[in-house]
Amino acid sequence: MSLILGIETSCDETGLAVVKDGTTVLSNVVISQIDTHRAFGGVVPEIASRMHTEVIYQLTQRALEEAGLSATRGAAPVDAIAATFGPGLMGSLLVGLSFGRAAAAAWHIPFLPVHHIEGHLFSVFLGERRPEYPFLALVVSGGHTQIIRCRAPHQYQVLGTTRDDAVGECFDKVARLLNLPYPGGPSIQKAAAEGDDNAYSFPIGLSAKSTLDFSYSGLKTAVLYALREHPDAPVADVAASFQRAAVDALILKTAAALEETGIHRLVIAGGVAANRRLRESAAGLDAKLFLPDMAYCVDNGAMIAAAAASRLTHQCSLPPDIPAAATITLMDSAGN
Ligand code: KG4
Ligand code: ZN
Repeated sequence: MSLILGIETSCDETGLAVVKDGTTVLSNVVISQIDTHRAFGGVVPEIASRMHTEVIYQLTQRALEEAGLSATRGAAPVDAIAATFGPGLMGSLLVGLSFGRAAAAAWHIPFLPVHHIEGHLFSVFLGERRPEYPFLALVVSGGHTQIIRCRAPHQYQVLGTTRDDAVGECFDKVARLLNLPYPGGPSIQKAAAEGDDNAYSFPIGLSAKSTLDFSYSGLKTAVLYALREHPDAPVADVAASFQRAAVDALILKTAAALEETGIHRLVIAGGVAANRRLRESAAGLDAKLFLPDMAYCVDNGAMIAAAAASRLTHQCSLPPDIPAAATITLMDSAGN
């Protein structure tokens, strides 16, 4: 049996969790800073790192307590500690990384750094239905839009990525244009429920090109121009039409990737995987679909612990002293 404490502080959620054997979540506590950042219309990095520092100690105690573990003097309550080392906001990453390394050193247990995208991929292994390899993964969040071929555990090939904005970032920016609250994804989804998704015809980036890459900056600009042209446009209609284009772009490229690779197992993970329209549209793809529970779509410590557990099992843990990295591509088992 292995118990791993997972720490996630790459952006505006402080997530702590204890996961048993890489799949069973014993506790998962998340403090979101959304209410603080909302006033600024987006995440303020300096505030984010300070807030992680304020709550990480208490949250660790809570995660251990809820898992039925106690940190008695000297004895380590878990077998290892994992934390996100990148990509993300540098100051925020350093909080989780330093805290995790210090606790691991004090308890004389291994410290396991985890790539944030790999964490998102492993969020599906926390459910009852787990994908077999090989599978394709669509990772969609505030910072990433990628199609990844997962050949075997920790064997990755990025097939497509965004050339500009990430899809979640586009939801957030368009929400700002529509005066909807941050984060944009849930507010746009809510507004779109009342709207006509055919009211406006917004472009799908790189749709005519034979590439699996995405582009979301044109879509954001198209919404801006539509709002300038029609200042009284109903917010619900613009939101619905935007959401349709944003999701259709994901579906178009994912369908092409499934066909190109002949792989018919699909994982969708990351904050945008919570989107209802995306979940419904993806159900129509020619693939067996694996989605994380809603609780594991947004950033959390459980997915970080799950990824670390798998790397431990496959003897390809990343070096414990790997530096924090604001931008870094997904690494395979060979560290490439
Ligand atoms: O994975 P995540 O929590 O953080 C990053 O790693 O970036 O994703 C956050 C992103 C935000 O851009 C947010 O607007 C988006 O996920 N999001 C959604 C929904 N819920 C969250 N986007 C579309 N529809 C949603 N329901
Ligand atoms: Zn994330």
